[in-house]
Amino acid sequence: MRACIARGLYGHRGRMDHSRTPVLDALSEFRHRGDVVFGPPGHRQGRGVDPRVLTILGEGVFASDVLAMNGLDDRRNSQGVLQDAQDLMADAVGAEHAFFSTCGSSLSVKSAMLSVAGPGEKLLISRNAHKSVVSGVIINGTVPGWVHPKFDAERHLAHPPEPDDVRRAFQQHPDAKGMLLITPTDWGVCADIQGVADVCHEFGVPLIVDEAWGAHLPFHDELPTWGMDADADVVVTSVHKMGAAVEQSSVFHLQGDRVDPTVLAQREDLLATTSASSLVYASLDGWRRHMVEQGRELLTRTLALAARAREEIGAIDGIEVYGQELVEEGYAFEIDPLVLAIDVRGLGITGYQAAELARARHHVDFGASDTCRINARLTHADDDASVDILVATLRKIVEDARSAETPPPVDFPSAEGLELETVLLPRDAFFAEVEQVPAEKAVGRVAAEMVTPYPPGVPVLAPGERISQEAVDYLRSGVAAGMLIPEAADPEVTSLRVVRES
Ligand SMILES: Cc1ncc(COP(=O)(O)O)c(C=O)c1O
Repeated sequence: MRACIARGLYGHRGRMDHSRTPVLDALSEFRHRGDVVFGPPGHRQGRGVDPRVLTILGEGVFASDVLAMNGLDDRRNSQGVLQDAQDLMADAVGAEHAFFSTCGSSLSVKSAMLSVAGPGEKLLISRNAHKSVVSGVIINGTVPGWVHPKFDAERHLAHPPEPDDVRRAFQQHPDAKGMLLITPTDWGVCADIQGVADVCHEFGVPLIVDEAWGAHLPFHDELPTWGMDADADVVVTSVHKMGAAVEQSSVFHLQGDRVDPTVLAQREDLLATTSASSLVYASLDGWRRHMVEQGRELLTRTLALAARAREEIGAIDGIEVYGQELVEEGYAFEIDPLVLAIDVRGLGITGYQAAELARARHHVDFGASDTCRINARLTHADDDASVDILVATLRKIVEDARSAETPPPVDFPSAEGLELETVLLPRDAFFAEVEQVPAEKAVGRVAAEMVTPYPPGVPVLAPGERISQEAVDYLRSGVAAGMLIPEAADPEVTSLRVVRES
């Protein structure tokens, strides 16, 4: 937000005719023409789909599921349908280039990383990264220079690193090709993107921002800073998260000359599917038009809803909803007001229990939950009725908590306990000869797997890190209290996968 104001808000945007929707129009024409198709998809726009499936999914889904080449456009892509839609997206959000990606930000972050640091090259990465970034480190063969987040020990909450942390990291790793920052976090805490971008540029390298949770940010000046307004070079968003596109809809945004758009496009092509979903493209196209035409008004209403929700939730005994105090304490640069991070420790239950009670007893599903809290995200799709349900559910959870089982205590690590030493390249550790050893014997050994409480999905252990007693105690006690670690070889963490010692 601050960077936008400094620059004169959104002056560089919206030069194109945003009433146009090239992908939606092409789909509509395709359906209207009634093309007879002999290529994929084999369901032939729904004709071959079992009616029982159509009853649930709807006919429109299949009627609009077409190939990009020789479907949305001709064999030569001569109408430039996709390019046109991407140009409109770039124009809408103040980027020079936008690329649609149909495999979620999980793939986009990997491609963005690869476009800045090739195999064996170094990239500074905020260690509160999502597991998709850590998998990128493994697959891409990136040499990570981890930049540790600021840790709020009272709330057990990690905040993105600050510009000075990044400067120190560049001094320590002068060969780093760039930096990857994650903001907003799952809990709505935002980094000083402009400050970090300035440091990166001082060192002559690009900043990538994983703004997976920030698709709404370009469309309202009272929301936190959008990476393209704060001089980031590449920004990745998941439009399905805070926006209105279907799942897996992700967009890369690019500006400046530190990352070559052809390099980004070609490296993305290495990882991407050759059968991109037209449903993703179409919903991205429609989202952009909707936001340009009505985003400000819709998000103004959502901000007012969030303010009301904060006030009413804040008045419930035993529950705390985080707000501006996170910023004042110097932990966060900004917070996203639409993310309600709700601390339930005062009720004597964990966030896991709160989320389970809400779903099982009240049919209300929260976003992330952890040992301390749950989050509720409001989008432009929410209204007074959904906020009433949210507040009423939290009141009911206060009641439910009285008879809930007391959770076993969690051994929270200290800030240092989470800063593990990297002794092997994550890729080398992951692909090494491994063994599964009892957790107590894993202390001091080198992790060969990611151990990630999910959601929110930030790995406690990354391959190549030396496992500490604190990390093991945290994971074991966390699992006993309801933490889920679905992808670990042993999700119960009674044992851990470590590099075999010769
Ligand atoms: C910070 C962050 N980056 C990337 C991703 C991956 O995004 P997607 O689910 O769109 O693949 C997530 C998913 O939650 C995330 O939280």
